[in-house]
Amino acid sequence: VDVRGRRLRKRSDEVTAFTSSMAFDGQIASQTIRTNMAHMISLIEGKEVTPDVGRKCLLFLSEAPTVGKKNEHAEDFHQFLEQKAVDALGVEVAGYLNLGKSRNDQVATAIRMKLREEILTLVNAVRELQSALLNVARTFGRTVIPGYTHLQRAQPVTVAHYCFAHFDALQRDVERLLQLYPRVNVSPMGAAALGGTPVRLQRRLVAELLGFDGVVANAMDAVSSRDVAVEALSVASILMLDVSRLSEELVLWSSKEFGFIELSDEYAAGSSIMPQKKNPVVAELARAKSGSVLGALTAVTAIMKSLPYSYNLDLQETTPHLWRGLSDASSSVALLSGMVSTLKFKPRAIGLSIRGDYSTATALADYLARQKGISFREAHAIVGELVAMSNEEGTPFEKVVAQRIGRVSSRLARRLTISEKEAAKILEPEGFLAAIVTEGGSNPAKIPEGVEMRARQLGGSGGKVARIATSMKDSERKMLRRVEVITKEVKD
Ligand code: ARG
Repeated sequence: VDVRGRRLRKRSDEVTAFTSSMAFDGQIASQTIRTNMAHMISLIEGKEVTPDVGRKCLLFLSEAPTVGKKNEHAEDFHQFLEQKAVDALGVEVAGYLNLGKSRNDQVATAIRMKLREEILTLVNAVRELQSALLNVARTFGRTVIPGYTHLQRAQPVTVAHYCFAHFDALQRDVERLLQLYPRVNVSPMGAAALGGTPVRLQRRLVAELLGFDGVVANAMDAVSSRDVAVEALSVASILMLDVSRLSEELVLWSSKEFGFIELSDEYAAGSSIMPQKKNPVVAELARAKSGSVLGALTAVTAIMKSLPYSYNLDLQETTPHLWRGLSDASSSVALLSGMVSTLKFKPRAIGLSIRGDYSTATALADYLARQKGISFREAHAIVGELVAMSNEEGTPFEKVVAQRIGRVSSRLARRLTISEKEAAKILEPEGFLAAIVTEGGSNPAKIPEGVEMRARQLGGSGGKVARIATSMKDSERKMLRRVEVITKEVKD
């Protein structure tokens, strides 16, 4: 018996190939089988099927194939599975599998089950990257590097300061992913095609068996909505923006021009023609994948737009974009963590490049304003003029300051004086950093507590993920156990 029924004549292979989702349903095969199990348990409980039918169906499901053979002409895995059951058990038995359910609620359920796993995978990948950044802060944290605005040297910062900045951005991504989780983890099962069913199903039992925290309240919403997919890809896109910026910096910093870091050979590639090359390929691809993830989000939103309620086959087209977007995000983040945890800063080279780059000029302006009784704006103008002079003449800044500050400040009521030694001291990057008093600033003395605070955050998100993963596994184990108990009698 063909589960497609007798309403339609046979389709052409071309139509099957075009409309089938078999090619990517492998992603949700095990979730679909478990959904069928939970549904069948509910049918048994509701006395909608005889215990015998229930047992046989469950036994089939517990041994069901998760992959179809190449030339199997199924529309999707849902139909494929049912056909296999009918072939194996006969339509008198397996024909009950789909009582009270539709592929519409079934696929929405399987997607949510897979999506929650993907979210946890992504959270853990991001946590790895955060942990790699914290380790860099522990190892190279006190190294002073140039901080940039407009990609022009701005002020010196510590490596730790930089690591914390990226850590905190990633922490918000972790929070967004964990906040999204409860919206994903509700069950559409029992919605049937779009309006519910007279079949006595217990939606909440099915939900519980599948490890959901509750049910999608409205049956039409349950089969129509893919907003959680849009949301997951949005959050992944936001995450990938930061990933791409971090990657870009690694590309820049490993270049000869910057020369701040040395990447591990493991994460680099050579050139087929230029023997000297060491290309930062992992960072380049992670940077590129942010475009692909954004592309997946764009595809899904464009497909969803203006779709009439409730289910439309258009929705099927969103699913591969969802998986691809999320796996691109996870793999980029995972590889980038490897790159970050194996890179080395080059403090000597960085130190040399910082000398004489005027990046502590703000300290001099602050000093004049706070110690010499002039306003910051006046001080800013004076220091700016001194920078221009030093730059033009090629004379060290502290020399120019000592020699010219009197003349440059002659417009003021009181001529300013400052010794070369004093100027040099004010302009020292180390002193500049040590003087910072504001919360969240780049003072090296604050590194240990910054690391500690973030390690605690990492522990917190780790605990949350572990609790979710445990309860997910527990409910899966419980249901399989229940299936085992019910099917035992047929086996014996
Ligand atoms: N393969 C479909 C999907 O991925 C499953 C639902 C199909 N529903 C239907 N009425 N044809 O969305």
